[in-house]
Amino acid sequence: MALRNIVTKEDKILYKVCRPVVKFNDRLHQLLDDMADTLSDAGGVGLAAPQVGVLRRAVLVLETNVEEDEDEFIIELINPEILETSGEQVGAEGCLSVPGEYGVVRRPDHVKVKAQDRFGEWFEYEGEGLTARCILHECDHLDGHLFLEKCERMLTEEEINGPAEEE
Ligand code: NI
Repeated sequence: MALRNIVTKEDKILYKVCRPVVKFNDRLHQLLDDMADTLSDAGGVGLAAPQVGVLRRAVLVLETNVEEDEDEFIIELINPEILETSGEQVGAEGCLSVPGEYGVVRRPDHVKVKAQDRFGEWFEYEGEGLTARCILHECDHLDGHLFLEKCERMLTEEEINGPAEEE
């Protein structure tokens, strides 16, 4: 298990456009494994390579739409391309690079993405709800965009933590 440092919004790297992954080698596999450990450790639902300081087009998304008796699993998307989006959802969104801040972001509710796996094989994946939100959020990172740009408004302290205790 190897954890990588997650950069925060002050870091210029988060605003750069990432380059495609061209080598599907051990180095990429190590990056993806470390990113998975880092994501699990942080308790997040998605992580993009630039968030750990690597300007390459690779993201992880936690698939949370699973049956009750099944485990959530991580999808690796290398060089992802959004093929289709539909529907709409409005909800709170956060980012491991923007700790403690959440905002209301409007996004499609369904997304179809094409990507390569860690061996370079192309596949397609469809995500709904939170998974769709996460795929779009992580793909935005690859083009240097944070959810803060798309926020309709930020959540207040009270909305995040619930009402303060009455005395
Ligand atoms: Ni993020």
